[in-house]
Amino acid sequence: MDIIVIGSGGREHAIVKKLRENPEIGTIYALPGNAGMKEAECVPVGAKDIPAVVEFALSHEIGFAVVAPDDPLVLGMVDALEEKGVPCFGPAAAAAQIEGSKVFAKNLMKKYGIPTAEYEVFDSVEKARDYCRGAKLPIVVKADGLALGKGVLICQTHEEADAALSEIMEEKLFGESGSRVVIEEFLEGPEVSVLSFTDGKIVVPMISSMDHKRAGDGDTGLNTGGMGTVAPNPYYTPEVAERCMKEIFLPTIAAMNAEGRTFKGCLYFGLMITKDGPKVIEYNCRFGDPETQVVLPLLDTDLFTIMKAVREGTLSSLDIRWKDASACCVILASNGYPKKYETGFPITLPENPKHGAEIFVAGAKSKDGVLVTGGGRVLGVTAVAPTLKEAVKNAYEAAEDVKFENAYMRHDIGARALACKGE
Ligand code: AMP
Ligand code: GLY
Repeated sequence: MDIIVIGSGGREHAIVKKLRENPEIGTIYALPGNAGMKEAECVPVGAKDIPAVVEFALSHEIGFAVVAPDDPLVLGMVDALEEKGVPCFGPAAAAAQIEGSKVFAKNLMKKYGIPTAEYEVFDSVEKARDYCRGAKLPIVVKADGLALGKGVLICQTHEEADAALSEIMEEKLFGESGSRVVIEEFLEGPEVSVLSFTDGKIVVPMISSMDHKRAGDGDTGLNTGGMGTVAPNPYYTPEVAERCMKEIFLPTIAAMNAEGRTFKGCLYFGLMITKDGPKVIEYNCRFGDPETQVVLPLLDTDLFTIMKAVREGTLSSLDIRWKDASACCVILASNGYPKKYETGFPITLPENPKHGAEIFVAGAKSKDGVLVTGGGRVLGVTAVAPTLKEAVKNAYEAAEDVKFENAYMRHDIGARALACKGE
């Protein structure tokens, strides 16, 4: 069977590589993919171009589609493909609203008693300003809709909150997604990402992970899409996991069903482990990037089998297994990211990366047959090892053999996790 994977980043490369392990699958088409995805046939069809994707799927007799990024999910890509008889992994648009609208997600959590930060919603900038003036600092201002992961501003002063509201609601820095804002209480504690498979009946958490969102070492500098990840996350203890299942995961699935928005696909729980217990910072309706680059290499069960079971509602019939190991992914970015950066530099990749590491390519293109940098986050290097300490060391050693001009990486991916383990 030929399948398509929609999207073009390191996450999609990790999904493609894992799916490649299944011998039932013939060609994997990546729409649009990137020049570094050697395991797929890349087709220049935009990930948000619903009619073109549907047309491609029908004309190529595609047997299954994996819709990975948030925008096509929120826009209804799964609905459109399923309507034409193409089975998909990913939630329908109605369920993808859990990420598509922060107002929807917050109201859902309030209605169903799911722990999250206290909040208020505003569509008037004056009222939002009044509220912020009387609020405790720091205060968190979030644009309602999708904003490429950049619509969250943590404000230390009332002046910063004023400026954040002007940028989001008046200057429309994140477009129409800033017509409404959520203003919420600042929470403290370690963050944990838990991706999960759900067929709307049961929820199977994947191995937990930790993202490193800031650009600089020691969690300094600007927020990015993620500069590296480790898995499992040592803050996600068995006790925390048990509370999350009872207080967050199962109630969320039940809430979505009760709202007539059954979620099938990968539901990502962005959690903060506060002194009052685990709370939801955000939901994503998809695999995380670069969480996927550490989670999928630890998966011991066939991914395609799981994806089909998710769609068919038979997830409970599977025994999903994980390697008893740790993984670390170090992102190599273009110097300057997440602000301005240059691209077009040739990339040299080792033929056999050290320690069996995997390289997941994200921002790259082909120029005269040569792989060159083409984005902010260029690629990720993932190593799997029996301990986290070895995984971190191996990922950095393997990353040394990847070369391109202007490469930038953080040097402390995994340091916080190791400190938590006392290593
Ligand atoms: P999000 O895009 O919702 O994941 O937010 C980006 C980052 O902002 C999160 O990973 C947190 O580090 C931080 N953040 C979001 N909401 C809060 C909050 N209520 N309190 C503290 N930090 C937050
Ligand atoms: N790494 C965070 C995300 O995928 O949203």
